[in-house]
Amino acid sequence: MTELKSRDKSGFSDVRRAARLSVAPMMDWTDQHCRYMHRLLSREVLLYTEMVTAPALVRGGALHLLAHDPLEYPLALQLGGSDLDELVTATRLGADAGYNEINLNCGCPSDRVQSGAFGAVLMQRPDLVADCVAAMCAAVDVEITVKCRIGVDAQKPQDVLPDFLQKISNAGCRRVTIHARKAWLQGLSPKENRDIPPLDYEIVHQMKADFPDLHISVNGGITTLAEAKAHLDRGLDGVMIGRAAYHQPGDVLRAADPEIFGTGEFSDPIDVARQMLPYIERHLSQGGRLHQVTRHMLGLFAGRPGARQWRRTLSEGAHRDSAGPALVETALAAISE
Ligand SMILES: Cc1cc2nc3c(=O)[nH]c(=O)nc-3n(C[C@H](O)[C@H](O)[C@H](O)COP(=O)(O)O)c2cc1C
Repeated sequence: MTELKSRDKSGFSDVRRAARLSVAPMMDWTDQHCRYMHRLLSREVLLYTEMVTAPALVRGGALHLLAHDPLEYPLALQLGGSDLDELVTATRLGADAGYNEINLNCGCPSDRVQSGAFGAVLMQRPDLVADCVAAMCAAVDVEITVKCRIGVDAQKPQDVLPDFLQKISNAGCRRVTIHARKAWLQGLSPKENRDIPPLDYEIVHQMKADFPDLHISVNGGITTLAEAKAHLDRGLDGVMIGRAAYHQPGDVLRAADPEIFGTGEFSDPIDVARQMLPYIERHLSQGGRLHQVTRHMLGLFAGRPGARQWRRTLSEGAHRDSAGPALVETALAAISE
């Protein structure tokens, strides 16, 4: 596969094309193994890492968090942070590591993230976010993007969101993904914050009308390519899908290239499972465990005959010390039959 890199400071780049459909950053889910499989399902979609905090990279020296395979490109690194110097250093590390985009997280509501003064609390600090974006843009040629909510707590989205977008756009951000619901910073778990605050897609469409030059992707509650297409047809530039892409990758990603990008063909999840075998061999030969990879493969055949047996074989067997690619072959027999 060819390597796609964004080196276009105007932001109109290969990665921008890929942003027509992206898989959301998801902690503990969109790790390297997961992304590798997603890339086998779709050549075109934009993939995101889990959030990596700037302090972990800069103060903690956790450079292993940047590890990825060039096959995953186009690939965005999502950073969490709000300290300018740290973010700039982390952004440089990400660009040097080869990422095609660096994304700043302004949407994550967890306590741990709030205490570090980043994530969704940054919706209350648009000037600080703009300073961060400007410093990150100045530091690298890779495109800097933002993922945000429509507001937090008692904020009025129709007031704060345009102000937020104007400020980050003035600072050099040309592309933003908006999770179309508020985050409630007190009293809800991060999981509840992905379901309970109501979705408001209309305000995202309104922002596209108000900021026609900004590339705007919508995120939140979108579960099918048909829904994604409806948003694109109405004029949004991109759609980001999280949980549905993870739980039903065989539905959401296998058809993405022909249906969203007008290229390529439907991928076959059986082929993808087989293509994962050499990857698994490599992972095991480096001391990894089978379940670390196969836990992301459980949903590959969701909704298809044999899916339950596939899941059961993998979940029951993959933790065993001796478990290897043969277990995946055994699990596949339930599907192929
Ligand atoms: C397990 C999990 C972990 C998540 N981790 C992150 C994260 O690291 N950074 C982030 O911006 N959003 C994170 N999110 C939120 C998703 O990116 C996305 O905004 C949210 O799930 C709504 O999209 P969906 O309805 O398509 O899933 C996470 C979501 C899930 C389910």
